[in-house]
Amino acid sequence: MQIAPSILSADFARLADEVAVIGDTADWVHVDVMDNHFVPNLTFGLSTVKALLKHTALPLDCHLMIEEPDRHAPAYAEAGARSVTFHAEAAQAPVRLARALRSAGARAGLAIKPATPIDPYADLLPEIDTVLVMTVEPGFGGQSFLDIMLPKIRRARQLIRDGEHAVWVQVDGGVDADTIEQCAEAGADVFVAGNSVYGCDDPAEAVVRLREAAVKAGDVAWWTH
Ligand code: DX5
Ligand code: ZN
Repeated sequence: MQIAPSILSADFARLADEVAVIGDTADWVHVDVMDNHFVPNLTFGLSTVKALLKHTALPLDCHLMIEEPDRHAPAYAEAGARSVTFHAEAAQAPVRLARALRSAGARAGLAIKPATPIDPYADLLPEIDTVLVMTVEPGFGGQSFLDIMLPKIRRARQLIRDGEHAVWVQVDGGVDADTIEQCAEAGADVFVAGNSVYGCDDPAEAVVRLREAAVKAGDVAWWTH
């Protein structure tokens, strides 16, 4: 069970400090790259990612909510992001892109929006390292968790169990102390959390609590046995 706090909910003017706060408790720093086209919001780009890499030992998990990921995503892997996730809805050649990310040394992630089913991507699972099931419409932090996505999380885990490749199932959007348990029960093992970490007085402690809840739910989950 891994926790990836999203700096979308952090203070953008103090990013290095905000990342340092979760340095001892988090597994990843989740960086939401938005281009104002694929989603109606604009955040960070490659130069911010390069700057952040100099300020943290935590691996960066770049979630690219951008158009033309085939063109832009490999540069994030080449810069040193350890995980680079592109959207299935935006990619022209997802297999070629996933291979490019892997050969640049990153984990390759495939993200799907709430209205995108996982089944059409089942055959691609050997080519990717992480499936990101969006549990809100991408674009903004602080939205409510869509529990209608729980069957998709379960389905993703089932497809992975039926196959031969170990693929992480990441959830992103509205993850908090309550919803994280539902996600872990359904099949998720990597949890993005923005508001429920950076909205707290003690973000490091919030990460610890989220992990405890995920581990507890995962211990009795159908897919861990
Ligand atoms: C939304 C982003 C998320 C966002 C989650 O499009 O992909 O990573 O930061 O924020 P919370 O946890 O506040 O829903
Ligand atoms: Zn994200």
